Amino acid sequence: MTTPVAAEGAQLCMEGVWKGFRTPSGRRVNVLRGVDFSLASGAFGVITGPSGSGKTTLLMLAGLLQAPDAGRIRLEGQDVSRLDGRALAGCRKNKVGMVFQKFHLLPHRTVLENVGFRFRYLSTSAKEARQLSEAALERVGLADKLRQDARLLSAGEMQRVAIARALAKPPALLLADEPTGNLDAASAEQIISLFRDFNRSGMSILLVTHNPEWIAPDTRHWVMQDGQLKRSDGFPPI
Ligand SMILES: Nc1ncnc2c1ncn2[C@@H]1O[C@H](COP(=O)(O)OP(=O)(O)OP(=O)(O)O)[C@@H](O)[C@H]1O
Ligand SMILES: [Mg+2]
Repeated sequence: MTTPVAAEGAQLCMEGVWKGFRTPSGRRVNVLRGVDFSLASGAFGVITGPSGSGKTTLLMLAGLLQAPDAGRIRLEGQDVSRLDGRALAGCRKNKVGMVFQKFHLLPHRTVLENVGFRFRYLSTSAKEARQLSEAALERVGLADKLRQDARLLSAGEMQRVAIARALAKPPALLLADEPTGNLDAASAEQIISLFRDFNRSGMSILLVTHNPEWIAPDTRHWVMQDGQLKRSDGFPPI
């Protein structure tokens, strides 16, 4: 196994992480092939890479929603790759917020209820959860849609609900999977600036995007290539 990169003080660290899937014909395809990666605490990291290269797979592992086949994952120094279900759920709810590429909203629940799910396993009072959910929805420009069913929203609105759900209770680490993929330029700009605000106040952020033009000098950039994350210096190849 290769040496971990800057594991000291890392928010998220992967060491030799492998993940594969079985195709319908029974063939095994390794999507992640020994990923070594470390995101420093408080950093803003960006991952780009071709479609199908494994970016979402990597975020699912980092978000503790799937387990690696091999290798080690650490969150805030804690090895989370071999935790049991209960301990995993505890880590997930306390440490990580996710914005899913496919949103994962409950279509027949209102916008406010969807964001309120962020608090489901937390000890926040109902009143406070509601206030925080409303405030998050206001920040993504959806204050006028609180009572609308999620299924009636446009794709960009669904995306913003998913973002509000992740940020209503700010996590230590935000994992965002193409969070601006369905947004117009102005809304995308607004979301990225919201992320930057949270990042300035200490949140570590790992963003997957096909729009690397947002990569600013203070962001760290990796490219997913051949099942590994490669640090990219300078402007990324698209
Ligand atoms: N649960 C699964 N079962 C089988 N194959 C899977 C599964 N999850 C992902 N894959 C495969 O792994 C590969 C990587 O998928 P992934 O979603 O991580 O790519 P991606 O880099 O996020 O792509 P995109 O930019 O299109 O979102 C794909 O070929 C996909 O079909
Ligand atoms: Mg993806």
